[in-house]
Amino acid sequence: MDINLRIRRFNPEVDQKPYWAEYDLKEVQPVDRVLDLLEYVKGYLDGTLGLRRSCGHGICGSDTMRINGRNLLACKVLVKDLVRGDRGTIQVEPILGLPVIKDLIVDMEPFFEHYRAVMPYFINDEPAPERERLQSPAQRARFDESTKCILCAACTTSCPSFWANGTYIGPAAIIQAHRFIFDSRDTAGDRRLAILASEQGIWRCRTIFNCTLACPREIPVTQLIAEVKKEIK
Ligand code: SF4
Ligand code: F3S
Ligand code: FES
Repeated sequence: MDINLRIRRFNPEVDQKPYWAEYDLKEVQPVDRVLDLLEYVKGYLDGTLGLRRSCGHGICGSDTMRINGRNLLACKVLVKDLVRGDRGTIQVEPILGLPVIKDLIVDMEPFFEHYRAVMPYFINDEPAPERERLQSPAQRARFDESTKCILCAACTTSCPSFWANGTYIGPAAIIQAHRFIFDSRDTAGDRRLAILASEQGIWRCRTIFNCTLACPREIPVTQLIAEVKKEIK
């Protein structure tokens, strides 16, 4: 296949503004991943291309990009899922709503600041039992979906509410809060709910559903947000 790969590029040290760079790639395989194409460009055509990746297998969540207008993990999306026939165009941009550092690399710090705000760790100040803190399979199942989150930011950076106001805590942080609010062993649920009830919290969610459509782990994000909303008195 012939692929015209368009990449949104910007190096703040030399460029006045972002621009589209185009690369004509020959003999692309339908089962190549977008990450393979980007690495080909970086390895053989232009080593200055900036992108993040780590695991290459949909686990680490570091290569979320806007590909043909949708937030996707570059290592999970195949060329054949984007282009029909022998030739076509694939367009890759950085995710929206976070400052671009260079090319496809954005500053994730505002995202992780929201993540840290919900205290995404187990809290229980009661004396430790002699053996483990028991939990039934049903209690464990209550927060199973939110444990699947890989913090890829695809949800938060596809949310129009977040685009409009970057101080909105965003769906990813709410999913992390959900993970602990519904854990029967944790005792800080009310503190997390109070944080989410604040002005920049969960009520900025207008049930737009982009987050659910974007999640590469198929977490029912909007549904879990609704479960947390119900807990706020
Ligand atoms: Fe990514 Fe899904 Fe977690 Fe959002 S909920 S950060 S889209 S894995
Ligand atoms: Fe945004 Fe998802 Fe709510 S897209 S408005 S967080 S349902
Ligand atoms: Fe780790 Fe894509 S490189 S999820």
